Amino acid sequence: MSRIAYVNGRYVPHRGAAVHVEDRGFQFADGVYEVFAVAGGKLIDEELHLRRLARSLAELRIEKPFSEPVLRHKMRELLRRNRIANGVLYLQITRGAAPREHAFPKGVKPSVVMTARPARPPDPSFGERGVAIVTIPDIRWRRCDIKSVSLLPNVLGKQHAKEAGAYEAWQVAEDGHVTEGTSTNAWIVTRDGTLVTRPADHAILNGVTRITVLALARKEGLAIEERGFTVAEALAAAEAFLTSTTSYVTPVVRIDGNPVANGAPGRFTKKLLSRYRSYVAAPEA
Ligand code: PDD
Repeated sequence: MSRIAYVNGRYVPHRGAAVHVEDRGFQFADGVYEVFAVAGGKLIDEELHLRRLARSLAELRIEKPFSEPVLRHKMRELLRRNRIANGVLYLQITRGAAPREHAFPKGVKPSVVMTARPARPPDPSFGERGVAIVTIPDIRWRRCDIKSVSLLPNVLGKQHAKEAGAYEAWQVAEDGHVTEGTSTNAWIVTRDGTLVTRPADHAILNGVTRITVLALARKEGLAIEERGFTVAEALAAAEAFLTSTTSYVTPVVRIDGNPVANGAPGRFTKKLLSRYRSYVAAPEA
C-alpha cells in the first residue's frame, strides 16, 4: 500500500507530495504545526492539540483554513487512507504561497499539509533504563509558546545531543533556568518529593503531554510546583524526566555525563509513565 499525504485539499501519493516554492512555510518558516499520537485508532489528546493549534494560528494572525469539524474529518480520512491505528499524524498550516515579501500577503489562502505514518510507543527500555541528556544555551526567540515551524535552534540542539550520544538537549536560559528540551518538556522531582516543571510562559511550548501529566500527577496527589529550575538543581534532584507526544514520560538519568541521584529511573517518574501509558490506552478512564 502506498503512503498518502494531504496537500491543500487533495490526498496524494506521499512520494510526490509537494508545496509551491513560494510557500511562506518554506520561505520564512511562516507557519505552525502539531504532532498527534494515534493509539488504538484514536487521536490522543485531540482537543488539547486542536486548542493549541488554534492559539498558535491566532498569535500569528494566520486565518483558520477550515472549521474544526472539517479538520477533524480530514485527519481521520488521512489515517483511514493510510490504514493507521498506531502512529503519528503531522499537520502543518502556513500563511500560504505568495511572491516573496516579508509583510503578510493579501488574499492568500493558508496552505495545509498532513502526513501520517505508523509508529510504536516509545521503546520500553527508555522507561526501564532512562536516557542521558546534555545541556545547551537557549538561543531561541521569545515566543516559544507558539508551535511555529521555525525550529532551527531545536534542530541544531538535537543534532548536538545526538553527536554527544545523548537522547535530548535541555536548553538553558541566560538566567540559568532550564526552559525545555528541543522537542520535549523538562521536569524534576526534588528530594522532598515535589514535582517541578517550568510554568507555561513564553519561553516554552506548553506541551500537551505536559498538561496531561500535570493532571495525572494531581490525581495522584503529588505536590507540584510550576517554577523554573537550574541544571545544578536538576543534578541534586531525586529524579528527572522529560515528556512529549512521542516520548511519553522518559526518565532522565544523566545530565552532561553526571548521574541524577543513583543514575536509575525514579519512583515518581515510573509511576507517571505507567499512568500515562494507561491514559493512552484508555483516555477517558
Ligand atoms: N514536539 N517542547 C518543544 C519545543 C516541542 O517541540 C514539543 C513537541 C514539546 C512537547 O509537546 P507535546 O507534549 O505537545 O508533544 C515541548 C513535537 C512532538 C515534535 O516537534 O515532534
